[in-house]
Amino acid sequence: MKNLTADELRETYLKFFESKGHAIISGASVIPENDPTVLFTTAGMHPLVPYLMGEMPHPAGTRLTDVQKCVRTGDIDAVGDSAHLTFFEMLGNWSLNDYFKKEAISWSFEFLTTKLGFSPDQLSVTVFAGEGKEGEEGYIPADEEAAAIWRSLGIPDERIYRLPREDNWWGPAGSTGPCGPDTEIFIDTGKPKCSDGCRPGCSCGKYIEIWNDVFMQYNKNAEGKYEPLGRHNVDTGMGVERTVCMLSGAPTVYDTEIFAPIMAKIEELREEGTDGRSGAPAPQPMDAESLLRAKRIVADHMRTATFILCDPKGGVKPGNVGANYVLRRLIRRAVRYGRQLGIAPGFTPKLAAVISAKYAHVYPELAANLAQCQADLEAEENRFNQTLDKGEAMFNKVAEQLKLHGQSEISGKTAFKLYDTFGFPFEMTLEMAEKAGLTVDKAGFEEANRKHQELSRTTSAGAFKAGLQDNSEVVTRLHTATHLLHAALHKVLGPTANQKGSNITAERLRFDFTWPEKMTDAQIAEAEKLVNEWIQQGIEVTKKVTTVEEAKAEGAMALFGSKYGDQVTLYTIGDVSKEICCGPHVGNTKELGSFKIQKEQSSSAGVRRIKAVIGNM
Ligand code: ALA
Repeated sequence: MKNLTADELRETYLKFFESKGHAIISGASVIPENDPTVLFTTAGMHPLVPYLMGEMPHPAGTRLTDVQKCVRTGDIDAVGDSAHLTFFEMLGNWSLNDYFKKEAISWSFEFLTTKLGFSPDQLSVTVFAGEGKEGEEGYIPADEEAAAIWRSLGIPDERIYRLPREDNWWGPAGSTGPCGPDTEIFIDTGKPKCSDGCRPGCSCGKYIEIWNDVFMQYNKNAEGKYEPLGRHNVDTGMGVERTVCMLSGAPTVYDTEIFAPIMAKIEELREEGTDGRSGAPAPQPMDAESLLRAKRIVADHMRTATFILCDPKGGVKPGNVGANYVLRRLIRRAVRYGRQLGIAPGFTPKLAAVISAKYAHVYPELAANLAQCQADLEAEENRFNQTLDKGEAMFNKVAEQLKLHGQSEISGKTAFKLYDTFGFPFEMTLEMAEKAGLTVDKAGFEEANRKHQELSRTTSAGAFKAGLQDNSEVVTRLHTATHLLHAALHKVLGPTANQKGSNITAERLRFDFTWPEKMTDAQIAEAEKLVNEWIQQGIEVTKKVTTVEEAKAEGAMALFGSKYGDQVTLYTIGDVSKEICCGPHVGNTKELGSFKIQKEQSSSAGVRRIKAVIGNM
């Protein structure tokens, strides 16, 4: 095996696929552009969905390769073991209705054996076992084609496992979209099988998945049915961190060169703290395993938070709903574990600096947006530390009262109140109770929490139903409305009112732009009036594929700091707007109906935020 660094691996991978006729395209933002089905980019396919669906040709061609920043927080509670990460980079090669299984599998094999130096004997693979009965609805045959290709490459049948949908089907990344059977490639670590049933996918650690080749021939529609896509796409994914780990022989991803500077900084901060310097909290006594876990959680969460806060698209800040809430949770968990480790307050911006230094040559946004990211981290860390201090004071009062009355259990209701009203994490209540020799009614807490959640779910289900139209159509219309709003702001406020972020859901658009002060009511009314005039004029929206230079020469607005491929799509709305963008857009501004600005507020220092809706108002 070749012991490659992450930098070397990215480069080797992209070059290899370039030599196979692929265009190297830049990965997308970790905050999805126009995909309301997900909070973060979880896979390389999100930004490519329109091309995978065949809605339009990709400007760079039908064979693409990229590195995509991904955030997956579904397993956040598992972080701290040897493998789980909430952020990772994924290497991918794509066929947009171009090559299919034979080339995809052969190239995966060639890359693993010749470029990474794995022996073919180390490889075990899985293929889709098929489902349903021939001739009946929903029948999908077993992927014997993929199995035959693997055999032709020298992988014997006993190392080709046929597994059902739960193992060998990938996608869609959101609730709907392109998906299909896959073939997954595992490295056999040589450990003995844990049982007779041990096979790739077993969690004992014998087999480690290194690559996933997805054959995207299906589309999951809004009714949840899998319909043939009528196209044969390939989407593959290889995780950078995991691959570097395997190549280096490091025991876990946290022991690789990728995490080395981050882990070292955490250790340094901990030592500074436990030296009694810099007002650090007393470290919590813990065994070696808990100590390691706490450090890994801090490292993982801070890396993810830094990438989110530095993202060129912007717009996600610590908050209470959606993506903002996920970010808040990551930061607060890191702060909590940092306190346990005895690290002095104000440490999150320091870790962001180390993470930026490690990655900025690959992701320039980590340098460009570092200062703002650090300011956001510092503010959130302070807020949370205040919450924790208040929560601790409340807890102490509760404990005192209980002791005064000769009681030793904190009721579920009280624990929930600490959590819900004072934002005090339940885990902290448990930890502090243990120290104070008290017990907590966990079941009571969970019951209170469950009741509360049911209540909020009913509310949001109602809200969702009300807006249940054809979501993708609304999103397209809002997307065009965003361009009109951007143009209107330029007219009303001038050319410095530039886009900082955009986020679209099926209900509304949200647009962040640079502007130092609150817009006046007259300015808001004027911008809204302009957009409505343009809608009424029924202006045609046209698109063409061109180069960045040409688009800019024509006066197109481009998001500064964004990396674009050689070829870009330029959307023009009469003489109102010209923007480089992936689309999709409506054909004519009339389709927007009408436009209303609902809110104008501050987003962060020097950045304002507008929320607006379209429709029959
Ligand atoms: N999209 C596929 C994955 O994430 C390749 O595994």
